[in-house]
Amino acid sequence: MSPHDSSAAERIAELRRLVDHHSHRYHVLDDPEIGDAAYDALYNELKALEEAHPELITPESPTQRVGEAPVSDLVKVAHLQRMLSLANARSAEELRAWIQRMRSFLAREGIENPAFQFVAEPKIDGLAMSLVYEDGLLVRAVTRGNGEIGEDVTHNLRTIAQVPLRLSTDAPPALLEVRGEVYMSLPDFQALNERRAAAGESTFMNPRNSAAGTVRQLDPRLAAERPLSFWAYQVGVASDGVSFATHHEGLLWLRELGFPVNPDIRVLESEDGVVAQCERWEQRRGSLDFEIDGVVVKVNDLELQRRLGVVGREPRWAIAWKFPPTTAVTTLLDIGWNPGKFGDLHPYAMLEPVHVGGVTVKLATLHNEEDLARKDLRIGEEVIVLRAGDVIPQVVSPAPHVADRSDRPPKPRPPSECPVCGTPTRKPEGSVFTICPNRDCAGRRWQLLKHFAAAMDIDGLGEKQVSLFMELGWIRTAADLYRLTAEQIATREGFGAVSAAKLVAAIEHSKRQPFGRVLYAVGIEEVGDVTGRNLAQQFRSIDALLAASPDDLEQTPGVGPKMAQVIHAQLADEAMRALIADLRELGLRFEEAGPAPGEGPLAGQTFVLTGTLPDLTREQATALIMAAGGKVTGSVSRRTSYVVAGESAGSKLANAERLGVSVLDEAGLLALLGREGADATGA
Ligand code: IVH
Repeated sequence: MSPHDSSAAERIAELRRLVDHHSHRYHVLDDPEIGDAAYDALYNELKALEEAHPELITPESPTQRVGEAPVSDLVKVAHLQRMLSLANARSAEELRAWIQRMRSFLAREGIENPAFQFVAEPKIDGLAMSLVYEDGLLVRAVTRGNGEIGEDVTHNLRTIAQVPLRLSTDAPPALLEVRGEVYMSLPDFQALNERRAAAGESTFMNPRNSAAGTVRQLDPRLAAERPLSFWAYQVGVASDGVSFATHHEGLLWLRELGFPVNPDIRVLESEDGVVAQCERWEQRRGSLDFEIDGVVVKVNDLELQRRLGVVGREPRWAIAWKFPPTTAVTTLLDIGWNPGKFGDLHPYAMLEPVHVGGVTVKLATLHNEEDLARKDLRIGEEVIVLRAGDVIPQVVSPAPHVADRSDRPPKPRPPSECPVCGTPTRKPEGSVFTICPNRDCAGRRWQLLKHFAAAMDIDGLGEKQVSLFMELGWIRTAADLYRLTAEQIATREGFGAVSAAKLVAAIEHSKRQPFGRVLYAVGIEEVGDVTGRNLAQQFRSIDALLAASPDDLEQTPGVGPKMAQVIHAQLADEAMRALIADLRELGLRFEEAGPAPGEGPLAGQTFVLTGTLPDLTREQATALIMAAGGKVTGSVSRRTSYVVAGESAGSKLANAERLGVSVLDEAGLLALLGREGADATGA
């Protein structure tokens, strides 16, 4: 290296430190020491020097936040440690009950009267992220995904000025994982939507969706144009030598390393203190410049956290205090109707746009005709709109002052023609719903195809893709999906050769879904996920199922006489038979692979699950029972062999007791399965 180069290298290092420092003052601490012009001068000098000495450019340089090339795909990455979810508390009572549960749990572990301290943090409504630093440099940013595996979005997280590319320490740990939330601030969200509207582009529904869409962009330049922000809230996996006694100390350390950590996070000593702090956050909610949907309360002592451990996907040592939903008053402009997958028309409300809990709402669900009638809404009147956290907005009722007027507009009626295909609608006898009777209605087909894609777990086949392929006339029934080719898909906008091939592979892969799943996916009225599985177990093959009489069908757990009639009629339908034949021909599974009823240790036994089990999720428990040849149904009858009851079990437990059905807890179930002491969730 020439003397000239070494002085350039020194100046570059110096400038990087200065730019990082001032960027941190500005973006993280919100307390700049120098003006924009002075900052720009430093940045431009660095940029110019690096251009003159490209060999000195390193990825952690502040000039390299927007990488050059878009990535071709988001790569799936396994997390260093599972990313968990949180149990909810909706009231002070539930919060106290949580603390009580921890006390009892710890008492059983021999820890009496633990000295609890808590930390209360805003629950930011964004996306959880795992940031991995090696030797102090950001090497990977991964979305939460399913908690085990997420997507690598490093290229986009690098564009966030608040996310350090290099930790601010002289002695960085070899490995450090930082967890936090990436989000879009309300002002940034509004500005982005205004820009998009002005450019004639679609606007985002809320800051969360907009952050999610941005984080998953392939081109970091797009992410850089849509400002994201970040709050760090947890030290994740770290190499030896990094250790703290408390969560709060970890947060303070993260702040020292340069991460944005909310300045209003407090350590609280008592239950009352926690409740008061949650209420304070709730009051401040409307004045924050980012959306929060609750408060996360965590046990501060890390040793206690470790002892408390995890149940299912949720740590025992933390809970989300969820805010009650927000409401607003606006005018009901009109009611629209959409056919569902069986032609049943679903109403939705078109509203004068209104701001509810930081989001503009124009549409709201009304569930069904009955719901609409019960709410007694009238077009043109003011109504109350509710948005609860992350769920779809709903219309609750007419505004109080309109409901008892004498001159109200007429009651809204379902349309006489299907709004999608124009076929005259009708109300089948005994039904509370008006339907579009046209089996070929594009609206119905669209719903059926969307349902099929979701039920068969086909990655990348969402609402948008289904609409596109339908419009192109490529797909009419689910069977058509399996005839799509990558070459064909790659010709359409929004697809490349890689994404088209991936989609076709995902569709092909879905052929491995078990028989019961296929029965659910094809869209048979009354056949949900569990009934599909039970029918598959009961009849073993599609031929046996198609030959079954209503009486035979009724032998299936959970299938009563009325359901049996409906299922029988559905299976006798010509179009359904044609679809099944088609799918069978294409290689989908129409035979049951699991143990037959009459095989396995739980053969002939019927189970009903209720309440929350300590370790197993409902799906895990169901899978274990079914793998042992048992059946799982939804309601308790005399035929039920066992009710497995967990916490907050309700009427099913009461029914079991009334009918004299044996009740098991999780340990009892595991004993029955011969799995005592095994790691139940690892099953
Ligand atoms: S802690 C136990 N802290 O909430 C670890 N999560 O339901 C769980 N979230 O996916 C995460 N703000 O996206 C934690 N201060 C905070 C949070 C927070 C928002 C989100 C996060 C997570 C979800 C859990």
